[in-house]
Amino acid sequence: MKLKTTAALLFLAVGAQAQKIEVSKAFNHAAQQTDILIKNVDSARKIKPNLVSPRTVENGQFKMVVSRDWTSGFFPAELWYFYEQTKDKKWLDLAKKYTEDVKKEQFNKGTHDLGFMVYCPFGNGYRVTKDTAYKSVIIQAAKSLSTRFNPTAGVIRSWDHSGTKWDYPVIIDNMMNLELLFEATKFTGDSSFYKIAITHADNTIKNHYRPDFSSYHVVDYDVNKGGVIKKTTAQGYADGSSWARGQAWGLYGYTLMFRYTKNPKYLAQADAIANYILNNKSTPSDGIPYWDYNDPKIPNAPRDASAAAITSSALYELAKYSKNAKNYKTAADKILRSLSAAYTSKIGNNYGFILEHSTGHLPNNSEIDVPINYADYYYVEALRRYQGKFNF
Ligand code: GLY
Repeated sequence: MKLKTTAALLFLAVGAQAQKIEVSKAFNHAAQQTDILIKNVDSARKIKPNLVSPRTVENGQFKMVVSRDWTSGFFPAELWYFYEQTKDKKWLDLAKKYTEDVKKEQFNKGTHDLGFMVYCPFGNGYRVTKDTAYKSVIIQAAKSLSTRFNPTAGVIRSWDHSGTKWDYPVIIDNMMNLELLFEATKFTGDSSFYKIAITHADNTIKNHYRPDFSSYHVVDYDVNKGGVIKKTTAQGYADGSSWARGQAWGLYGYTLMFRYTKNPKYLAQADAIANYILNNKSTPSDGIPYWDYNDPKIPNAPRDASAAAITSSALYELAKYSKNAKNYKTAADKILRSLSAAYTSKIGNNYGFILEHSTGHLPNNSEIDVPINYADYYYVEALRRYQGKFNF
């Protein structure tokens, strides 16, 4: 009997051991890769100084972007996490240096992506340093973003490059930019930012979500009469399909809505989205989804590691608020374990990007099965959150 109990305990201990994510190993890998990435960034900038951030590797080519690219903030933002993880001043100096390069985007009124571009680096920078100059940048960016809110439609306009396709396009990704508005209200006491965020989020629940809590990608609004013109996609397989990263943005977005408002309807929305994502039968057993849940080519379709990284990070936060905490933590761990085990670049590969196998824009035939900066950012964030280091 005693032997049996000991054996059972041993079995449980080994099982638990196998479940553990080796965070220091994962961070060491990520830091080694990022050292390589920085060398590549600096070499590229010697030739073209207006290129500020590394974005991807496509057809073997290292791709850098200018600061107005929607992904410019992820690289500097990630460096703040390295500093918080290691307390090594080297990362602090690098984070400060590269954060400055996207500063001018605080005045950019031509995009909704200011949360990604400005809040990710400056929000992390402010949390770490409490530098009031960072706070001013965040407030100005929130003012710029607010100019894109239309009260008749009740939403923030996402894209201006809509051409003839849409009158007033709003994409589900836009939920991620609301964090910037909430922080600006906290900093200034001006509730207009907060009200815009709530109105946008409520209309997005109403118009982007389907009965099964999957989301459309692009909803086109009528700014003259209010209401919806049409519901479509840009980056997904079809208008009625579920583009994987869009589902992840929505999950993260409604989780942060609950963080700032404590309104249970946002928690219910995040829970319902999590339920859709986690119970989707098309996702393989490693938890890394295909790029679109409805691509008929599945299982011969590319994965999207970025959607997985965003989902994992969001689930760690949602687990703090939801009664489904245990399930979310288990699912987030599974994704993080898979990413760390089988989706990381070999040291020295991929110009220093940490993860591989993300899909940026398949219908455009671009960034398919590639490393990409936002996958790396949310992966590193998820590693921080796994350790209980919640960054909000
Ligand atoms: N926000 C654009 C994308 O997720 O590709």
